[in-house]
Amino acid sequence: MGLDKLIGADKIPFFPPEASTFAREVDVLYLVTWGLTIFFLAVVVIMLAVLAYIYRRNSKADRSHPIHTHHGLELAWSIIPMILGLMIFVWGAKLYADAYKVPDNAEEIFVVGKQWMWHIQHTNGIRENNTLTVPTGRPFKLTCISQDVIHSFFIPAFRVKRDVLPGHYTSTWFEATQPGDYHLFCAEYCGTEHSRMTGTVHVLSPDDYQRWLDLNGSQEKLDPKPLRPKTVEQEGQEIFETVGCANCHTSDDTPRAPSLYALFGKKRQMQNGEILTVDRDYLRSNILTPNDKITAGYEATMPVYQGNLTEEQVIALVAYIKSLGTSAEPKPAGGEVKIRNGKVVKPTQAPKPTTSDTQGGKL
Ligand code: CUA
Repeated sequence: MGLDKLIGADKIPFFPPEASTFAREVDVLYLVTWGLTIFFLAVVVIMLAVLAYIYRRNSKADRSHPIHTHHGLELAWSIIPMILGLMIFVWGAKLYADAYKVPDNAEEIFVVGKQWMWHIQHTNGIRENNTLTVPTGRPFKLTCISQDVIHSFFIPAFRVKRDVLPGHYTSTWFEATQPGDYHLFCAEYCGTEHSRMTGTVHVLSPDDYQRWLDLNGSQEKLDPKPLRPKTVEQEGQEIFETVGCANCHTSDDTPRAPSLYALFGKKRQMQNGEILTVDRDYLRSNILTPNDKITAGYEATMPVYQGNLTEEQVIALVAYIKSLGTSAEPKPAGGEVKIRNGKVVKPTQAPKPTTSDTQGGKL
């Protein structure tokens, strides 16, 4: 039984159900903070009323020995609330850290916020608009970005809220515990239709979720069954080819452009001497505005893709680049990995980047 039911809070319309692994702990902390606040409020108000009554004008109360100092009392009313306050701080900080430290085994889901909808992309390629379908009992990492202004991805029943920013990925995670349908809100005023930027989180049992996956993300059996969508990485590979990345980024480093093979997670030195780690934000900004940060040893020859690619396309491209040179790479039939420029290279023959980790090229 949820804590909300136990204390009757599920009857209060603004107290959401507890449907994730943090929900209980967040609620306990919340209620303890409330309890302490009410307790101290009661102590102060009751003492105020009692003393006001005892020492009211014309009362016969003894006023002959007024107390000026009482060290014990003063220490008590300073130290006890301080300890309680620090306890709330440490507890809250631990919960905050838990909420933002994504477990390693969490499966990734991409969230793109835009005026005024939520676009959800699962790594297996299933896409949803204003709905998010997940099973119970498995951790999921949300990697979020906005196509326009600041939004905030909020699932009250999970006690999950994360700002979704333009130009920078943010992430959070959750593990759902109770099957059911829950509200999804935008919790940051983002324009005229902000209040309609809502959706539904469908939490399914693992079996129902498997059925949902088997139906490729459709809610009911359709005939013919919807096609298995392309995975995010396959989609990224397609964009890579259509946009023409392959014209410069080949399987080897060239004077024109570096290879992107096994690049993700490496460190790269920029022209100004700064050393940056190739992560999702690095790849994104180097695709959209490549001339802002140029890797040492390369010229500013790459076109700017800002305005030509949507955030969803960038997510797919980055997922593809991330997969290059790893076991997660989308492999065409025959186990061969197609590297750019029409060359087909088996994974074992994959070229190692020829430059050292800190002297790669511009993307
Ligand atoms: Cu998006 Cu408010």
